[in-house]
Amino acid sequence: MNAAAPQPKANMGRPEPRIDGRLKVTGAAKYPSDMAVENPAFAVLVTSAIARGRVTALDLAEAKAVAGVLEIFTHENTGALKPVPLSGALSASTSIQNLGPEIAHDGQIIAMVVAETFEAAREAAYRVKATYASEKPSATFGSAGVEEEKLDEKFPAVGDVDAALDKAAIVMEAEYGTPTQHHNAIELFTTTCQWNGGRLTVFEPSQFVYGLKNSLATCLDIDPDSIDVISPYVGGGFGSKAQLTPRTSLVALAAKVLGRPVKLVPTRDQGFTIATYRAETQHRIKLGARKDGKIVAFEHDGKEITSRPDPYSVAGVEDSARMYDFGAVRTKVSLVHADRNTPGFMRSPPVVPYIYALESAMDELAVKLGMDPVQLRRINDTQKDPISGKPYSSRSLMQCYDQAAQAFGWSQRKSAPGAMQDGDWLIGWGCATAVYPTHTGPAAVRVRLSPDGKVLVQTACHDIGTGAYTVIGQTAAEELGLSLDDVDVQLGDSTLPAGPVAGGSNTTASACSAVMQACAAMREKIFRAATTQNKGALAGQPMTALSLAEGRIDGADGTSMPLSELLADANVGEIDEYAEFVPHGVKSNAAKNLFKGKIAFAGGSHGDKLMYAMGAEFVEVRIHKRTCEIRVPRIVGAFAGGRIVNPRTARSQLMGGMIWGISSALHEATEIDKGAARYVNDNFADYLVPVNADIGEVDVIFVSEEDSDVNPAGVKGLGELANVGTAAAVANAVYHATGKRIRQLPIRIENLL
Ligand code: MOS
Repeated sequence: MNAAAPQPKANMGRPEPRIDGRLKVTGAAKYPSDMAVENPAFAVLVTSAIARGRVTALDLAEAKAVAGVLEIFTHENTGALKPVPLSGALSASTSIQNLGPEIAHDGQIIAMVVAETFEAAREAAYRVKATYASEKPSATFGSAGVEEEKLDEKFPAVGDVDAALDKAAIVMEAEYGTPTQHHNAIELFTTTCQWNGGRLTVFEPSQFVYGLKNSLATCLDIDPDSIDVISPYVGGGFGSKAQLTPRTSLVALAAKVLGRPVKLVPTRDQGFTIATYRAETQHRIKLGARKDGKIVAFEHDGKEITSRPDPYSVAGVEDSARMYDFGAVRTKVSLVHADRNTPGFMRSPPVVPYIYALESAMDELAVKLGMDPVQLRRINDTQKDPISGKPYSSRSLMQCYDQAAQAFGWSQRKSAPGAMQDGDWLIGWGCATAVYPTHTGPAAVRVRLSPDGKVLVQTACHDIGTGAYTVIGQTAAEELGLSLDDVDVQLGDSTLPAGPVAGGSNTTASACSAVMQACAAMREKIFRAATTQNKGALAGQPMTALSLAEGRIDGADGTSMPLSELLADANVGEIDEYAEFVPHGVKSNAAKNLFKGKIAFAGGSHGDKLMYAMGAEFVEVRIHKRTCEIRVPRIVGAFAGGRIVNPRTARSQLMGGMIWGISSALHEATEIDKGAARYVNDNFADYLVPVNADIGEVDVIFVSEEDSDVNPAGVKGLGELANVGTAAAVANAVYHATGKRIRQLPIRIENLL
């Protein structure tokens, strides 16, 4: 055991190393972008130079004259592609299959050149001459011409907020803002398509192979079951690879027309506009409290940017409204439609911006009350939903605060801003809550046990770097009493039984529950065979007396036989179990629908109990007195997420989450040219992400928690938990160091000078 492989506590599995780790570090793991096809043609995209208007002419003559060019696809020869709506099929619909001539956003695909070589395609792409009739675009909040739409869904509300605010001793009101962010995974948005007769194989990094297959089938107007999507590894997803985007059907069409495989590798800057992003948000928060710190009213108005056609929203008031024992609650969400590509999921989509606002406001309220911010959370902690009164299935928020505060040394904090200094540096300590709704979805799985005692687990889940291969393998090994070395896991392939989207942090909960179901059925077969055969140590024993451990079947009174012996004796060849797990709280046909690319989640604020994973994060910032340079030497987070299948992979997820949170606070933002509605820093030189020098000590503490309500695996999921609240903790620490409250992220030197 070491820091990377923490000692398991209660309700935690073993910190096994990743079963795909060696393949990845040796380069043997084949990502979709690596897949070799025979005789590929190469595609290069041409994207719009304007954000609003139309293409009036496309002059292709020079481009077509480049040696090696095979075809150029434009709106004039791609009419066969059908639109896919945003809802249902998880598609980033802006301009899906709209290659113009109308332009809805900057960087919209207007043509795709395919050539014998990448170089020829790129040169020809440069020679495509587009002429535009440009209109003035609306870029973002405050731009002329944006259209505001108040969403009329029923957002959380209870009690009389105005009356409660009138009576409150203290009212805290403030506005907060978060910027656009782009995912910037290392593996670009590549697509390779190959037809074999009527069958299409798509190699594309995907967080949802069944979703991609079904949405693409709609676009191409073909049978979904004639499409295979292959994505065994994903070089970074973060939500950007969970849906169909416009390039895929274009590549598929090109491969069909040209009768040979076509490979597209878009550039990094194209990735900013041909896929999705985290939209900028604005929040107005009001908190009313009594003098003793009890909150009596909470109001949260959110505003989010989206594209003109698509009502994409994350609406995190569903979660912010349930965080504390608020008393009266009123929430609202509005969309602001601009001339932009459609936003989409990005790690912890609803909670990252909305909880940033709430947790900043909580700190501001604590300051107004002259109260320790941990104490404010303690006074307002709850075990039930302030909106509906439903209980939490489990909620260990204050245990997280207590353990993280202790490890951080919070009791040493001097509360006045600027009171803690070290030479030229101001020291600030801040904290905030992390929260993520627990999602469990349906999943289908096949588990196969060979006569030699080896197990194969197959499900079209996805390992986007999270450790899914390992935790799924561990679950099968535990359930069958075998070692992890005996288990092989296959994921990320739509020819396997359907697995859920790698989104909403549901994979471990859903897939492990499905594996448990299949293994339980398999155990029963094994036990029946062992007890009903005519010979052997276990013959005649009751099935309930049997268990599996270390490759043996153990019976009553110390009797036992090797599993391999039973398999040989029974002469069954292999045992094959197929299971469709459907969580409590979704429709019984949810597993069947998953095969059609439709997602259903139980948990969060839905069901009869609230299901959430929680955490508490404490941050130290140091701010140079003259230069205002901001450093984060240490961060401590304590998290409760139900059963932890693997403390090593879980720690890695939580650590990565906190690092991303620091990035959100201090580094990351897509800058927008407001005149052109264009992303400016669309490259890794200018889009800031933290490097090693930006990150100091990151300490992850697991808080043991048991929850049998969430799902059979008892797992809450924590892929997205830890970057929630982090930005608020940093901003709160910046206030503590300087007395300056910065309410618009990211916080930069110029905000403090
Ligand atoms: Mo995650 S943004 O739900 O892929």
